[in-house]
Amino acid sequence: MYNVIKQLFNKFRQRQDLRHYASIFQKIYQYQDSMQISLDERERLKITDPAFTYGEVSFSAIAFMLEHIEAQAHETFYDLGSGAGKTLIATALMSDINTLVGIEKLPKLVTLSQQNQQRLLELLGNDVKLSYKKPSIKFIEADILDVDISNADIVFINATCFDRTVWDKLTEKFQQLKPGSRIITTTKQLPDEYFESMIQSSVLMSWGYNSIFIYRKIL
Ligand SMILES: C[S@@+](CC[C@H](N)C(=O)[O-])C[C@H]1O[C@@H](n2cnc3c(N)ncnc32)[C@H](O)[C@@H]1O
Repeated sequence: MYNVIKQLFNKFRQRQDLRHYASIFQKIYQYQDSMQISLDERERLKITDPAFTYGEVSFSAIAFMLEHIEAQAHETFYDLGSGAGKTLIATALMSDINTLVGIEKLPKLVTLSQQNQQRLLELLGNDVKLSYKKPSIKFIEADILDVDISNADIVFINATCFDRTVWDKLTEKFQQLKPGSRIITTTKQLPDEYFESMIQSSVLMSWGYNSIFIYRKIL
């Protein structure tokens, strides 16, 4: 009986915590039009590659991932193609992972994600319950194919619009990751000789429900 009450209480507390994290996340993102910033940047830089099509992960999708990847505080989390930074900001709120790195090629999205990171740190600093959180988040302007991610423990990639050539190059890159690292992808899948499938599901993205795959690097 005592255990059942304890479990119910923990569930209630987790739900309260999630609501609190979601309200901070909303404060950061509520007035931003990252889609328009992406469109303007692609026009300015004359980028027509469909891989740059903009779309975002939802807060609930990030909560779902975090529930399944068994992340540890000392691990390093990358978002490849980090856009406005939602994945890392929400991960910093909802988990204890301390080192988070976003790679994004469009300069104005990088600036926006850095501003969002500053805002997060301010909000955390002023929050009675969360002021102990001091996540180290870096948003780097670079091409995801050029960056060394060999120190990654967890990689997220919103890969729905990546074409075959880019995906093959990324798959090769993921084969260099440490055994035990987790890779989370949308739409695209990884070969089972190197990556063990942990979860296949469907989660909410800014354009609707989309498939999501979570893998663990085997060898
Ligand atoms: C679908 S959006 C995902 C944004 C973010 N990860 C999220 O889920 O909210 C894909 C992002 O990848 C970026 N991108 C696409 N190709 C890239 C490349 N080769 N190098 C760096 N960023 C890239 C795009 O500019 C875009 O911001």
